[in-house]
Amino acid sequence: MTRVIAIDGPAASGKSSASRGVASALGFLFVSSGHFYRALAWGVVRDSVSEEALPQWIGNRRLDIVETTGPETAQRGVQLMLDGSDATPHLSDPEVAAKVSLLAVFPEVRDLINGHLRALAASHDLVMEGRDIGSVVFPETPYKFYLDASPEERARRRAGEGAVDSVAERDRIDSSRATAPLTIPKGATVIDTTHLNLSEVIHAVLEHLRKLGNFTTIAK
Ligand code: CDP
Ligand code: CDP
Repeated sequence: MTRVIAIDGPAASGKSSASRGVASALGFLFVSSGHFYRALAWGVVRDSVSEEALPQWIGNRRLDIVETTGPETAQRGVQLMLDGSDATPHLSDPEVAAKVSLLAVFPEVRDLINGHLRALAASHDLVMEGRDIGSVVFPETPYKFYLDASPEERARRRAGEGAVDSVAERDRIDSSRATAPLTIPKGATVIDTTHLNLSEVIHAVLEHLRKLGNFTTIAK
């Protein structure tokens, strides 16, 4: 049986950095589900796909997942290839950020991505972060976290990264959509990261997992 640690929360709550740290510490594969949505949003921008053409366009896409190792050997992740091209350099493009939440409302898009995410979990221990991982993609996992931070702190973090996209607008769309809206998954441990640094968040997640048992930390 593989294990899935699901980490959800709004933009800039610290999901991605915390998930990487937890995955490294446990030797698990780190997966950002947001990267899958961003990879497809890159394709939509590239091919100028209209809303009407989207279902057919989605049906014709090839998405390959390549496993990678980071600078530290304990760091394991995935690289996404859309129609044979590496999506990685495009994931943070402003056009992609502007399009991604609009694309993520379509059930066809969510179904395609969820199939890939579940296939990964069939063969790997994972730390996966996103918006609906604990609520929809892996509702049965006992390891669920919901990270949050005040809107001001999240805006400050994104600005600190030089990001130009509207986090507040993405939050609004992500929380109000009909399919798999951002919510606190049932049974999730909620961590308010507003006044915590990254190490403190990673520590809080690992401590909680340790109490649940069944986990051995391999890195500091
Ligand atoms: O994945 P998500 O959008 O939730 O957030 P992130 O990309 O992990 O974090 C956004 C920014 O906030 C990064 O620059 C982190 O280094 C920073 N951060 C922080 O200052 N304090 C934390 N407790 C967590 C993240
Ligand atoms: O890093 P940040 O939290 O800002 O965004 P992300 O994780 O890269 O996700 C980008 C967008 O993809 C989100 O704003 C959602 O619209 C969508 N998404 C989703 O709908 N469901 C997920 N499980 C992950 C991302």
